[in-house]
Amino acid sequence: MPAFLAYAPQGADKGIAMAFFGKDELGKQTELRKENLPRHVAIIMDGNGRWAQRRGMPRTFGHKAGVEALREIIRHSSDLGIEALTIYAFSTENWKRSVEEVGALMGLLLEYFTKELEELHREHVRIRILGDIDAMPKGLERQQAALHAAMARTRENTGLQLNIALNYGGRQEIVWAARKLAKRVAAGELSPEEISMDVFAGELYTSGLPEVDLIIRTSGEMRLSNFLLYQCAYAEFYKTDILWPDFDQKAYDEALLSYAKRNRRFGGV
Ligand code: FPP
Repeated sequence: MPAFLAYAPQGADKGIAMAFFGKDELGKQTELRKENLPRHVAIIMDGNGRWAQRRGMPRTFGHKAGVEALREIIRHSSDLGIEALTIYAFSTENWKRSVEEVGALMGLLLEYFTKELEELHREHVRIRILGDIDAMPKGLERQQAALHAAMARTRENTGLQLNIALNYGGRQEIVWAARKLAKRVAAGELSPEEISMDVFAGELYTSGLPEVDLIIRTSGEMRLSNFLLYQCAYAEFYKTDILWPDFDQKAYDEALLSYAKRNRRFGGV
């Protein structure tokens, strides 16, 4: 853990390099500047259930605490001037959870988008939902409407690009991109030879965003769990044993500092 971390004041001009310093275990000073920050961070927010169970509480209590942690991480990402933050809120497999847990998560989602939208908009955050919103089960029409409204309201915003993966599956995203391209080829709009990595990426939910630089998973697990399979090809993986509700600004800074010290080679030497 760094001996100390000192920050540029909140609200400092995001275009100017913000500097903070950490001392690694060798005592060498490491300076973390804007240019050392990841452009795109992805987070698998894991451990809500265990956090609650350790307190003798129902799993849903952990999800509620998880939303508080998320709020802090979104604010800090925005303050640091990170371009894009993608969080895994609900996978295509999460529908297998109990009716009570799914209901509680959907309730939190609705509450979040109803209460937080205007503040996020004021902070110039742009919200995108990654995943198949329209295929959500019946009875979630209010959630669907709130998600569409959040995307429409923030469409022009150029601050933090906040992507919320919901009813999301990485393999499904890739298959759908292939299907869309196949249709374009069949319609004569595109030749197979024109399908490049850029053209392919343009059919993903994350079209136009930088690829993921840093993927963080909390609670000690080391799996991708079908998250951003295409976008994470060269992402740096960071794992922490901290359970998601306890993942705060300080824990996030440690992840960012770890990233800043890495030597990314992208297959080179
Ligand atoms: C994983 O922990 C967490 C989830 C499946 C849900 C994450 C959702 C939130 C933090 C809140 C909802 C999001 C928004 C945008 C309002 P787990 O339940 O698998 O924990 P466990 O591994 O300890 O059982």
